[in-house]
Amino acid sequence: MIPPEVRTERLLLRQWEDEDAERLAAIYAQPEFLEHMPYVDPDRQIARFRREWAEEGLSLWAAEHLESGRMIGRIGLLRHRDWPLGGDPVEVGWVLDRAFWGRGLATEGGRAALELWRTELPSDDELISITTPGNARSLAVMRRLGMTYRGATHWHGYDVVWHAIDRSVDSGPARSF
Ligand SMILES: CC(C)(COP(=O)(O)OP(=O)(O)OC[C@H]1O[C@@H](n2cnc3c(N)ncnc32)[C@H](O)[C@@H]1OP(=O)(O)O)[C@@H](O)C(=O)NCCC(=O)NCCS
Repeated sequence: MIPPEVRTERLLLRQWEDEDAERLAAIYAQPEFLEHMPYVDPDRQIARFRREWAEEGLSLWAAEHLESGRMIGRIGLLRHRDWPLGGDPVEVGWVLDRAFWGRGLATEGGRAALELWRTELPSDDELISITTPGNARSLAVMRRLGMTYRGATHWHGYDVVWHAIDRSVDSGPARSF
């Protein structure tokens, strides 16, 4: 089972609260976010995350920064039943408030998600991560987690590249970063 709440060294990965929509909207309005991702209505998205937690037993967590108590983004696992290459893969993904980049927090939260994939989703032989080819920061997080390039495809109207890690590959000792 993927736990509804996980604590890492610096983050509380938790379920969504209605008040998170406002913070999410502020993050999605940041130019650095919009450079790589489209704006999505936060209320509808939170409803989707809650539905996925109920139906799939996994989705993205709200990422709360323990020291400041701020909700600073979203991190976690998504099962893609519409992945163009098939297989209903599980993806690990991350979005952080610009003010919290450059501290290893996406990698810290992503590593917690990866470790849970390893122990809790034994039927999923690989964990993937998807982004656009120019998203250097997201690609760097994938590499830090031991994921390697697997290919390019077209998905939801975008050219995307995807990385993955196989169950047989050791992603290193458990650590926060
Ligand atoms: C993708 C995204 C989450 C990556 O965030 P990030 O902060 O760059 O990633 P990490 O958490 O791995 O942090 C890495 C950086 O922190 C530094 N760092 C690592 N560990 C650290 C630590 N323990 N303490 C302080 N700094 C640390 C690294 O040296 C690296 O520095 P750099 O920015 O100079 O390269 C962020 O850029 C983002 O939200 N982008 C917009 C949304 C998006 O595109 N999401 C992905 C969609 S596919």
